[in-house]
Amino acid sequence: MEKIRLGLVGCGKMMTTHAVGVNSISDQLEITAVCDINLENAEDMAAALKNHPYVTTDYRTMLDYVDAVLIALPHDLHYECGMFFAWNKKHILMEKPLCNTEEECLSLITTCEQENVVLMCAYPVRFFPGVQKLKELVDSGNFGRIIQMSIWTEQLTTAKPEHYMRWNATARLGGGQFFSHGCHYVDILLWFLGNPVKGSHLGTRVGTPWILKEGTSTAIMQFENGALGYHGATWGARGSKLRVDYQIQTEKGMLEYDRMDDSIKLYDSHTEHVPGVIESNDEYKVLWRGDIVKKGEMPTKHTQYEILHFIDCVKTGKRPITDGRAALQSLRVIWAMYAAEKNNVIADLRGLGLDQYDPTETLPYQFYKE
Ligand SMILES: NC(=O)c1ccc[n+]([C@@H]2O[C@H](COP(=O)([O-])OP(=O)(O)OC[C@H]3O[C@@H](n4cnc5c(N)ncnc54)[C@H](O)[C@@H]3O)[C@@H](O)[C@H]2O)c1
Repeated sequence: MEKIRLGLVGCGKMMTTHAVGVNSISDQLEITAVCDINLENAEDMAAALKNHPYVTTDYRTMLDYVDAVLIALPHDLHYECGMFFAWNKKHILMEKPLCNTEEECLSLITTCEQENVVLMCAYPVRFFPGVQKLKELVDSGNFGRIIQMSIWTEQLTTAKPEHYMRWNATARLGGGQFFSHGCHYVDILLWFLGNPVKGSHLGTRVGTPWILKEGTSTAIMQFENGALGYHGATWGARGSKLRVDYQIQTEKGMLEYDRMDDSIKLYDSHTEHVPGVIESNDEYKVLWRGDIVKKGEMPTKHTQYEILHFIDCVKTGKRPITDGRAALQSLRVIWAMYAAEKNNVIADLRGLGLDQYDPTETLPYQFYKE
């Protein structure tokens, strides 16, 4: 089968990360066009690719060169750029968050469905082998029911003039840390835990004064099955022990996906708590070890896994597991929790969950030309 011709729109920081993932699967696709409003960024990206792609500062001139596009633009441009490619029947892998408003998301989703093009939101975490393995372990039933799933992400980001934080500091971002970054993890919590029932979010700008909304965010949700979900995240971490860590308390023990060494551990040797005595038994068994994180190095985003899923969906007509509808559901949860935070109430999250569509359904569109 011929390679998918992929165009890159927005050659900033995230696209540089994507280029690493794309290069590792170059047998599956070819970057045939690159675009950035800043010509130097587009030219630098093209120079890193060996096949001399078409270079432009105007994505509207890319149509003849591409079957699909990967869009990594500032958030307020996702909608108009996505709509342009949808109307022109190009498949779309859109960086998160899908769009800045419910109306924009719905309009983009509907247009892609009408025009028979794949719309996938770039949530790479879902496709990490370690996260997929964690889900498989939880779904095996061997650990009983989930009591609580907690995810921590602790980073230090600042408003460097050349970086996207420049536009983060403006209204262009569409929300704070919870919207911009937490959307990855709300998506993960919904995937693991199912339909949310209620939740609360609190955010603060302390330590991250450069951002208009919160730079640090704490969210807690309850799900239909009784489980709790937690996401604690900061862009203001001057130090961190956990950095990026997933922990699931189950009826049989605690499962941890330690992103920093790409392993899944089971802690299940706690004895019953005796008042006045602090349990010190922290033995664990390693259930799985991946090889995508090199020892001592910070893990990168490893976006090749999500891009492979996108290509598979373009070729086969399968619905992406992080399609526009799934992406909108996680954003609705965030918007509902933002609104409740403002009104000092707990958010009612019923009706926003994963039950609104069947992710195994193949949509009646066939895209790929043999
Ligand atoms: N998946 C992840 O983990 C992750 C991490 C970081 C950022 N992102 C997402 O990636 C996207 C881009 O973020 P970034 O950090 O790369 O930002 P960035 O500011 O580094 O890059 C954006 C690029 O878009 C270009 N641009 C702006 N307007 C344009 C236009 N009209 N036409 C063409 N190019 C234009 C800019 O010149 C810049 O090079 C955002 O959606 C962000 O949320 C995702």
